[in-house]
Amino acid sequence: MGQKKLIKFAAIKQYENVLEYPQGMPGKWNAFFEKLNLGDYPISLDSLEISTSTSPKNNTPIKPLILELACGRGEYAVGLARMFPAQNFLGLDIKGNRIWKGASIANKEAIKNVAFVRTQIEQSIQYFAKDEVAEIWITFPDPQLRLSKAKKRLTHPQFLRIYQQFLQPGGSVHLKTDSPNLYLFTKTVIELYGLTLITATDDVYGPTFMQSSQWDERYAIKTYYEGLNIASSNRIHYLQFKIDQDLPHAKDELLKEMIAAFEVTETHDAKRERGVKTNED
Ligand SMILES: C[S@@+](CC[C@H](N)C(=O)[O-])C[C@H]1O[C@@H](n2cnc3c(N)ncnc32)[C@H](O)[C@@H]1O
Repeated sequence: MGQKKLIKFAAIKQYENVLEYPQGMPGKWNAFFEKLNLGDYPISLDSLEISTSTSPKNNTPIKPLILELACGRGEYAVGLARMFPAQNFLGLDIKGNRIWKGASIANKEAIKNVAFVRTQIEQSIQYFAKDEVAEIWITFPDPQLRLSKAKKRLTHPQFLRIYQQFLQPGGSVHLKTDSPNLYLFTKTVIELYGLTLITATDDVYGPTFMQSSQWDERYAIKTYYEGLNIASSNRIHYLQFKIDQDLPHAKDELLKEMIAAFEVTETHDAKRERGVKTNED
């Protein structure tokens, strides 16, 4: 491993706003962010109180908790935290050297309503209580184009079943991607499982969408991978939906058959399949 990565890994171990595979956190995020905000360091996770919407700590209202999954450098987590000081934001990613970037910016600017968890998203169920999460952003995840890897797509029903266990009933999932294939796949999942689609556009920065009543200032936040345009689609696709139905396993086989029909073309995401190197890998 390179020297720079080692330095970043060592740095995040000292950061109060980065937790690596934290134990016993369900229900404690509101209390964690209160301590982070007060500068009450070091934060002892064991001593944090569990708060729920019906039993808020000290009668202070619980702040909504918003996740950015596959956050990389955490541009959305940090950007949204700047925009919405009355909400708390948590970025999740497995790569500590990427998390380091967002966590360092938050420390430098003293943004106290954003933190990061280094973990596999597959393990996220361990970290949150039922209904603890208000919203989820998934920003430019790997599209995992090979059919054999479809279950690794972060909008596959296998992942949605995980999110459903901690996302509030009214909460929604936002997907921003440059991959037409992942966009189409996710729309197929939404339709097949009867989920509620709130917004869908294959050109979030196109004049029609930007001038429509659906445009939202949050869409303008740009991430590192967004700038790479790996899929060469030259369009940013965006979906917002609710996970408001059961996701029966029985439908997964049908989904597999439906997505087998999607063709991966060179003009779309094939560059990813060949493996595009970024300057941080
Ligand atoms: C293509 S990058 C996008 C990063 C960032 N959202 C952006 O737009 O710049 C995908 C990120 O997902 C993370 N990732 C992929 N699969 C993951 C998993 N199962 N658990 C945690 N992180 C994952 C990778 O480490 C990587 O940082």
